[in-house]
Amino acid sequence: MAPDDLTAWEALHSTPARRYLAPDPIPEPVLWEILDAAIRGPSGGNRQQWGWVVVTDRRTKDRVAEWYRANWQAAYGRHREEILNAPPDAGGLSPRGFLGAEHLAQHIQEAPVWVFPVLRHAADADSPRVGASIYGAVQQLCLAARVRGIGTSLTTLYGGHEDELRALLGLPEDALTMALIPMGYPARGAWAQPRRRPVEEVVHWNRWGETRPREEKR
Ligand SMILES: Cc1cc2nc3c(=O)[nH]c(=O)nc-3n(C[C@H](O)[C@H](O)[C@H](O)COP(=O)(O)O)c2cc1C
Repeated sequence: MAPDDLTAWEALHSTPARRYLAPDPIPEPVLWEILDAAIRGPSGGNRQQWGWVVVTDRRTKDRVAEWYRANWQAAYGRHREEILNAPPDAGGLSPRGFLGAEHLAQHIQEAPVWVFPVLRHAADADSPRVGASIYGAVQQLCLAARVRGIGTSLTTLYGGHEDELRALLGLPEDALTMALIPMGYPARGAWAQPRRRPVEEVVHWNRWGETRPREEKR
């Protein structure tokens, strides 16, 4: 299927994290198209207190990739054997997910384009909902990229070096990067439907705990 032929439903059901990315460049007009779709996403009061920093500079990537790998190692890498040998129903990152994430940790700097969605006034925000004003748009970025055959994953493992990152990207003092999205044409893997707990199990009607069987469309 040509990517242009995707319906919204098809895109919604076939946008997993793509972590094996080829270094081939993404044409700039395609990137603009994707970013223009992202910024159609919602923000509180339509204030759009955001900026989208596109990074192609290898030196910036190499520096951030060091932090990413250190955090990866501390959070997941050191549990490699446990995760790879976990029973299939253990939950969390599957062995396959682990290997993909490990690959990304080792190669993240090779993704041709990185996008940092940046939110103003988020650096010292105390509302736990501050991200609500950008993550909808971030998902639009991922979906628009998918329609153009470009893989993405939402990552946060680069975190913990906020002042240096702010300086590296020239961000305003009050701004915070809300994620790092490495983008590129997939080198392996598939546009498979993301595996999730069944919808009937996670949907609650009126009150938490009140679940019901799914009614199929007639
Ligand atoms: C808040 C958040 C942080 C994440 N951070 C990372 C990350 O640092 N590295 C990574 O490879 N994936 C990261 N992910 C991606 C998740 O691992 C991924 O969404 C999940 O495993 C489901 O993957 P799937 O959509 O391919 O099924 C993050 C996702 C979210 C929502």
